[in-house]
Amino acid sequence: MSVDLKSISRNSSLIFIIGLLISWTAANSQALAQTYVSGKVITADGMVVASGAVALEKGQLHNNAFLAGGAIGPDGTFNIPLPSGGPWGLHVYSEKYIYFPLQIQITAGVENDVPVILPVDGKTDDDPMISNIQFNGLSDQVFQITMQVEDPNKNLGPQMLAIDTKRFKSYRLVPKSGDLKDLKADFPAGEYVSPFIPVALDGEDLRDWLLAVADHQCSNGIIYNGLGQSIFKPLVAHSESLACEVPGIWKSNFDKVYQFSQTESGDLTGEQFEGNLVIDTMAQAGNKVSLVFGFEGKKGSADLQLSCRDNGVLLKGTYQYPDRSGDWVFTKLKNANVAKSGKKLFEANCAACHFADRKDKKVGPGLAGLFKSPKLPSGKATTEENVRERIVDGGEKMPSFKHLKDDELRAIIDYLKGL
Ligand code: HEC
Repeated sequence: MSVDLKSISRNSSLIFIIGLLISWTAANSQALAQTYVSGKVITADGMVVASGAVALEKGQLHNNAFLAGGAIGPDGTFNIPLPSGGPWGLHVYSEKYIYFPLQIQITAGVENDVPVILPVDGKTDDDPMISNIQFNGLSDQVFQITMQVEDPNKNLGPQMLAIDTKRFKSYRLVPKSGDLKDLKADFPAGEYVSPFIPVALDGEDLRDWLLAVADHQCSNGIIYNGLGQSIFKPLVAHSESLACEVPGIWKSNFDKVYQFSQTESGDLTGEQFEGNLVIDTMAQAGNKVSLVFGFEGKKGSADLQLSCRDNGVLLKGTYQYPDRSGDWVFTKLKNANVAKSGKKLFEANCAACHFADRKDKKVGPGLAGLFKSPKLPSGKATTEENVRERIVDGGEKMPSFKHLKDDELRAIIDYLKGL
């Protein structure tokens, strides 16, 4: 499958997924709220990556105006502040997986949650290779990175990246002999240099820097830190408990990944990642889900059944297509994103007992200015940790909110921070 996937990476079918998989977690209207892009990186074989790099180019995808970036944490998540909203190109690198760069639309002042699914790179012996990473101080306040890049199948792309995970910045390295005019051309093997980086090398922890390279087929090899150490950590099992419902991200027995969603009116829709199958209609009655789809100019249909057991959430059934029919089995990889804002969550869960705009007591203390005071009403230090603990555990007269999902909790806390 990876060969198949790789072969389309050059053509414009990528446009197909532009903006497809974006959802907004917060419509928080706080004027000063920071803009973030965040996500959890899961793989098409149902795991969560525990290491990797994220780089973002501002504006149109493939204009190579790399600006922001960060690391994927051991829980597979990233959360990167961005200087502005609007269009950005998202690139995600994790060893042994490939990624199709995605055009995303970022809303300023909120956290923009982007689901990221990495297809398995079935062929890793053609991955580009980095060696001889050097950080050279040019003055007290400026340094430059150089590295050697090789590629067995000689189709390097323009993405030779250094990512400053502490300051959430990314820089593109160019061939020492000069950048190529045509960024779609195959880039040469050899030495690459970064722009001048306005950071004092002295005191810099080079483990905060990541170096990643991709070729035109979206293959990336080992990702290194600035000390030249591989950052790879073994994948972890996907611990999200999967909701027994159709909305979410699914993988089919044909190795394709789909997102199924519920529309405002309650109907279902579906989109295929990186492929030519188009879902025309999708309807659910009880456990039965029926699909009508278009593929290569012809129409097909499918009858599926939602089944949820210990071993996973499945949609299983058969498809009918003019010249063939067969089994179609989808395995759920990820729940649909909860597109609820912190404000809405607060109103639904907390407002009965807490004022958001006053300090006086309703049932519990008023939460205006909560994060601006060094101490919480209980006298504990004002830390995100303590507030989170209070929400999850409750208090004497406050119920526990253990059922809130992690991103919901995060949205509520972000909202409280703006009060
Ligand atoms: C049924 C009423 C009730 C609801 C609902 C409720 N709280 Fe509370 N909350 C209280 C009370 C009462 C206190 C004071 C401490 C106590 O008695 O537990 C409190 C205390 C707090 C504190 C102060 C903690 C400290 O250390 O001083 C925070 C922050 C807080 N609540 C946040 C929330 C958030 C966020 C929600 C919604 C997710 C929420 N509460 C929902 C009643 C409530």
